[in-house]
Amino acid sequence: MFQLMYVSTATRKMANDDLCSILEVSRAKNNRLDVTGLLLHLDYGFLQILEGPKDAVLEIFGAIARDHRHTGLRILFQRDVPERLFGNWTMGFDRWTKDAPRTAGMFEITADAIHNIILPEKAVEIAVLLRNFYRVNAGSCAA
Ligand SMILES: Cc1cc2nc3c(=O)[nH]c(=O)nc-3n(C[C@H](O)[C@H](O)[C@H](O)COP(=O)(O)O)c2cc1C
Repeated sequence: MFQLMYVSTATRKMANDDLCSILEVSRAKNNRLDVTGLLLHLDYGFLQILEGPKDAVLEIFGAIARDHRHTGLRILFQRDVPERLFGNWTMGFDRWTKDAPRTAGMFEITADAIHNIILPEKAVEIAVLLRNFYRVNAGSCAA
């Protein structure tokens, strides 16, 4: 099992419809390729974790990296792992805002990652924090 986490910056402001169309395509393709993970969107930043068979993760990441809806992709880690963190989600999604109480505790560290000022060795910790944070609450774009 292989896991990859990256951050990037949206090339324009993302409306709900933009995000939902990304998710719709993502969930279908990830499901087909046995890839799971989490996508967070905050300000103009994206943070995504992809996990699954190595070939599949790299194939999907290759397509993502060519996508003009975002730029400045930076891989925070890629590694072999014994098991998935987000096994039930073809792509869990949440859109964060600075003032939402639910995400306040997680906001700063993830914002640091997105805004490019986190130490790479902290990234694995963030992935595990996010998994614990989202054990109950998997945000959906259909809301
Ligand atoms: C921030 C972001 C995250 C994305 N995440 C995924 C994803 O998890 N899985 C996926 O298949 N496509 C994802 N996409 C869409 C891909 O970039 C691409 O449009 C899609 O995989 C179709 O690629 P293809 O036409 O080469 O098959 C994402 C796009 C963006 C901008």
